[in-house]
Amino acid sequence: MQEPMPATCDVVVLLSGSGSNLQALIDSSRADDSPVRIRAVISNRADAYGLQRARDAGIDTRALDHKAFEGREAFDAALIELIDAFQPKLVVLAGFMRILSADFVRHYQGRLLNIHPSLLPKYKGLHTHQRALEAGDKEHGCSVHFVTEELDGGPLVVQAVIPVELHDSPQSLAQRVHVQEHRIYPMAVRWFAEGRLTLGEQGALLDGQLLAASGHLIRN
Ligand code: GRF
Repeated sequence: MQEPMPATCDVVVLLSGSGSNLQALIDSSRADDSPVRIRAVISNRADAYGLQRARDAGIDTRALDHKAFEGREAFDAALIELIDAFQPKLVVLAGFMRILSADFVRHYQGRLLNIHPSLLPKYKGLHTHQRALEAGDKEHGCSVHFVTEELDGGPLVVQAVIPVELHDSPQSLAQRVHVQEHRIYPMAVRWFAEGRLTLGEQGALLDGQLLAASGHLIRN
């Protein structure tokens, strides 16, 4: 007998740039057994290449220019309205270069994921590859986490670790980290879509088990 298909999980993706992570999510959601359905892609920049990727894949797109709003709260309120029109179960930040207000984060509590190019809690914020090199780190990587009010500080879901090579530059490191991002983000989104990943009081839960502080760890 065939396994019943899980219910689809509608996802809205927010981005500001190239959208290579969006592309990885699109590609993986095309698998026959994927419950992930990317309902819409929204950008604060009308010229973001990620919007083109979405259009090419036949996904609805919207642009909402933050400069047209007076203040973060007004922009975020309009963004919530735009997102909620698609009634997503999950909202995915994929290179969305805006700090989100507390109200926004609270509105999507437990259903808002982000990917960050460092092994959090190391190197919150920008220039993560450069900072890892300057610190002489032997390992670097990327993290998927639930978003909370603390910037880049929410409970970790999964991390991928790569070795730093002797001759690495910020660019070469970024390239290898990106490969890992494209691996772990679809994985985490699928866990959520399958109902396996939730946010509990103590942190992220996978199959009902509290994950370690680092999240699920993948070493390369
Ligand atoms: C990624 O490095 C991600 O970790 C960070 O923003 C970047 C987005 O890259 N949050 P892309 O637009 O998905 O290529």
